[in-house]
Amino acid sequence: NSRLVVMEPSGRGRRVVLVPYPFQGHLTPMLQLGALLHRCGFSITLAHTRFNSPYTSHYPHFHFLPLSDDLDGFDTSFHNLLNVMAAMNANCLPSFQEHMLNMLETEDVACVIYDNIMTFVDVVATSLNLPTILLRTTAAAYMHSHLVLFHLIAHKRLPLPESEVELPVPNLHPLRYKDLPVQATQKLPEQVRQFLLSYMNIRSSAAVIWNTIETLDQWPLQQLQQQWPVPFFTIGPLHKMAPPLPTSLMKEDAFCLSWLDKRPPNSVIYISLGSMATINQEELREMARGLAKSDHPFLWVVRPSLLNGSSDAIESLPADFKELVPERGLVVDWAPQRKVLEHPAVGGFFSHCGWNSTLESLCGGVPMICRPCFADQMVNARYLTHVWRVGVELESVGEKSVEGAVRTLMGSDCGRGMRERAVEMKLEIERSVGRGGSSSESLHHLVNFVASL
Ligand code: UDX
Repeated sequence: NSRLVVMEPSGRGRRVVLVPYPFQGHLTPMLQLGALLHRCGFSITLAHTRFNSPYTSHYPHFHFLPLSDDLDGFDTSFHNLLNVMAAMNANCLPSFQEHMLNMLETEDVACVIYDNIMTFVDVVATSLNLPTILLRTTAAAYMHSHLVLFHLIAHKRLPLPESEVELPVPNLHPLRYKDLPVQATQKLPEQVRQFLLSYMNIRSSAAVIWNTIETLDQWPLQQLQQQWPVPFFTIGPLHKMAPPLPTSLMKEDAFCLSWLDKRPPNSVIYISLGSMATINQEELREMARGLAKSDHPFLWVVRPSLLNGSSDAIESLPADFKELVPERGLVVDWAPQRKVLEHPAVGGFFSHCGWNSTLESLCGGVPMICRPCFADQMVNARYLTHVWRVGVELESVGEKSVEGAVRTLMGSDCGRGMRERAVEMKLEIERSVGRGGSSSESLHHLVNFVASL
């Protein structure tokens, strides 16, 4: 028989241990990677903190190793994250080491894949002679901006005066100084500097897996490849590559999907600021007034922790805004976002531009209103507005600016152009994840690489 037989790569049942950083935006891509590698024939173990533990019953095909994080009673709020990371790295190490020693007595472990923030993994894996691979859950462009940041600091270009933050960073189109990962006007605090250096360090990793798409992130990937001479596997968007699986830490409100079913195509603006970003009461009210004035139907995720301070966000909404619900709009605690962004009724996404939200919006062909808050969100927003040109930039949250941005995105020629480009990007991404596309090919190489370790 002369027919050519194309062999699918297979993990041949070898075990891969995954260690996510336990926050939604990081946990989700790691769970998706686990499901993907499982489909490719690997056995999957997920070592997880008790804090923000995933719902293990949702993943009957994974094995789980609970780590002793000792975070009970610890302040895990956003402003204390550097201390949370330090505590987690110190506290999880002994139980991870013990689990791995036990496991190695009976199992053939190919490697440990971990989130770069969980640095204790490298210490344990190195001592046990186990290969590690990093999963990067942000765009390469964000990672690359760290290299430039340290270059600028070394050349005494930073800190700079407030009057210069709007200037473009040389050789870093489309970023301005204010889009860099830290405030360009201030000297880096030592704790932040140490964190960023660790964040940029791939330690002894044998390879790096990227939840991004080669064509969208090509130049930064090339720059980083020169710094980190290990194989890169660019296999995003993971939610498109992996079999569908639930990943939310919060209960999703499914009613909003049937509410969307009753709305015309591209008519609804969806609003969500992800799982961590917070706003103040005044911004919440201004957003509500702007949405009310825009005259467009809306679906708004007002999660319980959205307001900084302790007040209840829903209680803080203006009374006349609440009267718009549920005829014109809907307010929910947490939405099934990936399904929302693929729903035909959704025509725009008002977002903080977290990387998962960005990828999910691009995959849905949905243009965005970009209101970045911290970390990688400014970089993502600049790419959305100035490179891919599928987003409206919102500099500040006020009634007028919100109303104007919603009207532009949902009802103007300019918005229509963005929607057309977003649909083109959706098709481009579909080609990347399809047979022979860059992400599929890279997955093929990753499977062979891991199986060979
Ligand atoms: C964090 C950072 O803020 C983000 O910038 C970084 O890229 C990853 O870590 P987060 O702020 O939560 O993540 O944003 P994002 O990356 O967008 O992830 C949010 C996830 O929660 C998305 O996968 C989204 O689908 C999901 N989500 C959000 C829901 O399922 N329902 C909601 O109502 C809101």
